[in-house]
Amino acid sequence: MSKQVSDGQPQGAKLAVVIMAAGKGTRLKSRRPKVLHEIGGKPLLAHVIAAAGHLVTRGDIFVIVGHQAERVRAAVSASGVQFVEQAEQRGTGHAIQCARAAVQGYRNILVLSGDVPLIRPETLEKVWQFHQSEKAAMTILTAAPEDPTGYGRILRKRHHDTPEVEAIIEQKALTGEQQSIREINSGIYAFQTAPLLTDLDKLTANNAHGELYLTDVAGLLRAAGERVVAVQAAEASEVLGANTIAELVALDATLRAATAKRLMAAGVTILRPDTCVIDAEVEIEPDTILEPYVQLLGHTRIGTDCRIRSYSVIENCTLGNDVLVRQACVLAESTVADGARIGPFAHLRPGSEIGEDAHIGNFVETKKARLGKGAKANHLTYLGDAEIGAGTNIGAGVITCNYDGAHKHTTRIGERAFVGSDSTLVAPVTIEDGAYIGAGSCITKDVPAGALAVGRARQVTKEGWAAARQARQKKQE
Ligand code: UD1
Ligand code: CA
Repeated sequence: MSKQVSDGQPQGAKLAVVIMAAGKGTRLKSRRPKVLHEIGGKPLLAHVIAAAGHLVTRGDIFVIVGHQAERVRAAVSASGVQFVEQAEQRGTGHAIQCARAAVQGYRNILVLSGDVPLIRPETLEKVWQFHQSEKAAMTILTAAPEDPTGYGRILRKRHHDTPEVEAIIEQKALTGEQQSIREINSGIYAFQTAPLLTDLDKLTANNAHGELYLTDVAGLLRAAGERVVAVQAAEASEVLGANTIAELVALDATLRAATAKRLMAAGVTILRPDTCVIDAEVEIEPDTILEPYVQLLGHTRIGTDCRIRSYSVIENCTLGNDVLVRQACVLAESTVADGARIGPFAHLRPGSEIGEDAHIGNFVETKKARLGKGAKANHLTYLGDAEIGAGTNIGAGVITCNYDGAHKHTTRIGERAFVGSDSTLVAPVTIEDGAYIGAGSCITKDVPAGALAVGRARQVTKEGWAAARQARQKKQE
């Protein structure tokens, strides 16, 4: 934000955003601070910070922390926001009092609630524009949901042709007639800083919770002859708060439904979208199909023409085009190149890089394993700390013994090699291009290119042994 030359007011940046996030969230009955509960795979507070980040730079965002402050800070400090401490949580009005020193250099502040996470940047922009054009001291974002229970209500001025507001009345203080007001306070406001800071000191805790309510500032500003206005959000769903686990789950469903809708609008097929769990930042190219009960988490990216079959869980992975992930696979922090086939029941652990057209079959586990183009490990295998060249075939039951009890070691296998079934490869060990490993081998020494290595006990065959044994047994009887 550009610095403004003052006209009698303190010089400083124009707008700061203050996010109230110090509350405990008693109604959640949870040990985790409310603003760190997640929807769409991300903490509530992170959603609010992301929305605020569209209006101001991160340095102009002040997060008020209090309950489990260290934990809350740690969770979002990477975003570059500032923090203000509210050591004792004495209400939303008190929270803003604690931010006084931080915000007095700004002409205006936008106050957001850390537990109202679905707010869109466009709506915040609308509030900010309305606040400026109305030259208001306080602008309240409101909504008219089906069920307003639990929210503060907006007491409008009687004339209908003005956006002006008389007061905000909290649920517990509603008198008879006021019970029918459907317009709610979203907990999101714009303020001119100077009149706000003057009236903040006049707040009293004379209410049902014995707290200092920020909402009382509306009435105080009105009494001081200041302009207090309301602007309604287009969709009530965007300003719903999360005070209980049921409300959190409802917000999560709303957010995920919106994500699925966005993806489908962009050409992705999601069969039974209500059964899929797709995080907000997942990206998928058109013509990919997600079967029911798929979970796509974190920063997962999937190319075009892929098919992800049911019960697979994919977290922070990048998949190319034409990839098939069969049923019940678990993929984490891995990449899968074009045309690869995974599963069913495969486990790609962090650092797996599956090459183009490679196959990872059932009950195969990989970790920090790189498979080249067309390499195959189709059955019952563990590949950890391994490099496997293009066109190499890993037989059923092969195991890289990568851990000696103290350190991890690497197994290197060249191109077009063949590792027979049930072989154990004791790392560090290198098998060069085109080498063959006999089935059932325990390989402890490097194998040169094109060689055959067999590391197993020689078979002993005793002709007629069974009959001889029977005869011995008969004699003993
Ligand atoms: C508040 C509003 C209510 C509005 C609703 C919208 C007040 C008095 N009431 O009620 O009119 O309809 O939001 O969702 O403001 N917080 C602090 N410090 C505190 C107390 C709270 O930082 O001392 C934070 C909380 O962490 C939360 C936010 O402020 O993120 C709102 O507090 P909460 O207790 O949830 O207020 P509501 O009862 O929902
Ligand atoms: Ca709330």
